[in-house]
Amino acid sequence: METSDVQRGLEDVVALESRICLIDGKHGRLIFRGYDIRDLAAHSTFEEVAYLLWYSRLPNAAQLAELHRRMAELRVLPDALARTIDSLPAGASPMDVLRTAVSALALLEPEETRPGASSIGGAQRLTAVLPSILGRFHRHRSGGRPLEPRPELSQSAYTLYALLDKEPSKLDVRAMDVALILHADHELNASTFAARVTASTLSDLYSAITSAIGTLKGPLHGGANERVMQLLEEIRSPQRAEEVVKAKLARHERIMGFGHRVYKVEDPRATILREWSRRLGEEKGNLSYFDLLAKVKEVVYHEKGLFPNLDFYSGSVYSLLGIPHDLFTPLFATSRVAGWTAHVLEEYDDLRLIRPTAKYVGPTDLVYVPIDERT
Ligand code: CMC
Repeated sequence: METSDVQRGLEDVVALESRICLIDGKHGRLIFRGYDIRDLAAHSTFEEVAYLLWYSRLPNAAQLAELHRRMAELRVLPDALARTIDSLPAGASPMDVLRTAVSALALLEPEETRPGASSIGGAQRLTAVLPSILGRFHRHRSGGRPLEPRPELSQSAYTLYALLDKEPSKLDVRAMDVALILHADHELNASTFAARVTASTLSDLYSAITSAIGTLKGPLHGGANERVMQLLEEIRSPQRAEEVVKAKLARHERIMGFGHRVYKVEDPRATILREWSRRLGEEKGNLSYFDLLAKVKEVVYHEKGLFPNLDFYSGSVYSLLGIPHDLFTPLFATSRVAGWTAHVLEEYDDLRLIRPTAKYVGPTDLVYVPIDERT
């Protein structure tokens, strides 16, 4: 069905201009608003990166302190939303919960009254509140203690506290911070594109983020990190990696956590998270994930010449932090929401309805048959 004038999957189609994020897939570089991801991961915090994405510049100390204060205030859930979350089935998928909760929040905070409306205030509200939604739901389903707002905690420390209900160590907070930084934006990936398409109709910010969460859920996008952990559970020991991977490839199955539409070399985020996977593994006396991942990486490269992407390592980092597998993709959302909202705001500033065309390949001259004459 492929024809030369159809770019299936919109591959290589340049759909818009953006000043937010550059992926240099040939050289394995990722730039947020001019800054290399390696510098941001080494020196900054998630809040600094979110500020950078929203305001196009790094904050000074006073601006960062003000953002911390504001986001701590905005992480508090409205009572009606907390009650909605408590009424959801405990067996629900946390991604469905996140999508439903953001959609419900739009009802509770109509556009005219919501914090900041469709501006950076709304972006901050959504970024601050997602960990609270997840924490509330996780505690509801696991019978945990009520969630406190803990305004003294940074976003990464609060996220760990919300999900694990314990005081995280400095190393764990830094690992979470780096993971959040690395996931914060990635140019026109599928969920960001979905958000921008929604925004391009002049729909509101919360609707755009609801679209994005639904798009991130898929296993070819954000859902890959959970599938990587399933793969590791299936392999169990490095000695079995070759056999399991080869069998999957022979069945034409995809190996989750490998390949990328844009990177032709290793994803720089994967390089950074691999190091964190090793560091946390050493700290916690559990290098089993790291050893398994190293073997799988070797086999997949040998068999298919594919490089690992970010999702290949994020699951091991989250597992070492003690986070349940079904919260990995929602965690991705708690970070990517900073990028989604930055893109939506950029879309509003330079609006043009996103509406591609399809090449019609069906019939055109069928004769209409009345219903009682149809076979
Ligand atoms: N395992 C096995 N084969 C693969 C894989 C993989 N993970 N990825 C690509 N290939 C093969 C594919 O079968 C095809 O081979 P052939 O030409 O022989 O048919 C070739 O590589 C090109 O694949 P494609 O589907 O045309 O490439 P794409 O640009 O559409 O795919 C991708 C990009 C990410 C969807 C794909 O690599 C994939 O399915 N990876 C696994 C899922 C995954 O890890 N997703 C996370 C992506 S990174 C985080 C994010 O941005 O969300």
